[in-house]
Amino acid sequence: MSVLDIRFYGDPVLRRKADPVGEINDEVREFAEDLIDTMYEAEGVGLAAPQVGVSVRMLVADAEYKEDRSSARVFINPEILEADGEWKYEEGCLSIPGIRADVKRPERILLRYTDLNGETHEEEMNQVWARVLQHEIDHIDGKLFIDYLGAIKRSLIKKTLQDLEYESALYLEKLEEEDGDEEDDEARR
Ligand code: NI
Repeated sequence: MSVLDIRFYGDPVLRRKADPVGEINDEVREFAEDLIDTMYEAEGVGLAAPQVGVSVRMLVADAEYKEDRSSARVFINPEILEADGEWKYEEGCLSIPGIRADVKRPERILLRYTDLNGETHEEEMNQVWARVLQHEIDHIDGKLFIDYLGAIKRSLIKKTLQDLEYESALYLEKLEEEDGDEEDDEARR
């Protein structure tokens, strides 16, 4: 179990179309646990793998957000088969702290996904669950909720986004330095 670093707006991993998950093995199951730990630590209702820098089609969600974590769920290679209705609801994102905005999305979806045992399911999702899943599935396609906002709202959040971009750049620089150090250590061995 570990809490992972959440990537912020400006990190290119958030704009990449993520790769499908292949075999569901222990590594995938451990990663799912880490995603759940990270989601609760950050007090979020959903978290997609690219948000911790791993560009694969996998996400965790808990639209009910129960403290004992009993309602946390893992969705692998999720796909929306049907969507209908329209519903405006306020969204936020762990990768874009400080910004919340109303987004219109379908109210109901039919979802196909694979679970941690490698079994594929089709399930209807409504209301908040449908909302969270659509937001997270956008993440694995490199899409963010602010992409839906109009020009006025976008201009209002510009400064916050610039600050996040700056923070992301610093983080990535640090990460690269650490990688470099590790490689040096290995070369010395
Ligand atoms: Ni998000």
